[in-house]
Amino acid sequence: MKSLLLLVVVLTVLAGNGVQSQLINLQILTVTGTVKCTQNYTDTNAPPFAYAEVHLLSGGMIVATATTDINGLFKINLNVGVSLNGILINVDILETCVLKVTTPLVQCNPLLTTSGVLVSSITRLVTGVFVADHFIFVAL
Ligand SMILES: *[C@@H]1O[C@H](CO)[C@@H](O)[C@H](O)[C@H]1NC(C)=O
Repeated sequence: MKSLLLLVVVLTVLAGNGVQSQLINLQILTVTGTVKCTQNYTDTNAPPFAYAEVHLLSGGMIVATATTDINGLFKINLNVGVSLNGILINVDILETCVLKVTTPLVQCNPLLTTSGVLVSSITRLVTGVFVADHFIFVAL
């Protein structure tokens, strides 16, 4: 009877550990932000850049790609522990990532240039969500 009780306790502890490791494996990191149709990130009145392709890059390698919605908003969800393009996803790697908009600005405003890209660093919030800082125009 005593050994049965012990077995139940051991199984409960094992099951508990199993649930915990599963939760860790399923941890998701999010990278989000808004892209505006401007070369001047200080211009708060700039319209959104809809349907722009955004790359998340780690050391020049593409980790993930997203497209902005009608409001210029994009959101990338990444599973921790998953390898993307040879890059293992975790908080430390994301700290080194940058965002690059590959759709040319001329797509949202014909008066803007075709040569150049918008790039932004990302910052981790206390919630664990990473947000784009400022999309700065870099001429090519
Ligand atoms: C950028 O936008 C700000 C705010 O609208 C404005 O004061 C500034 O002159 C603009 N800079 C350029 C280079 O257009």
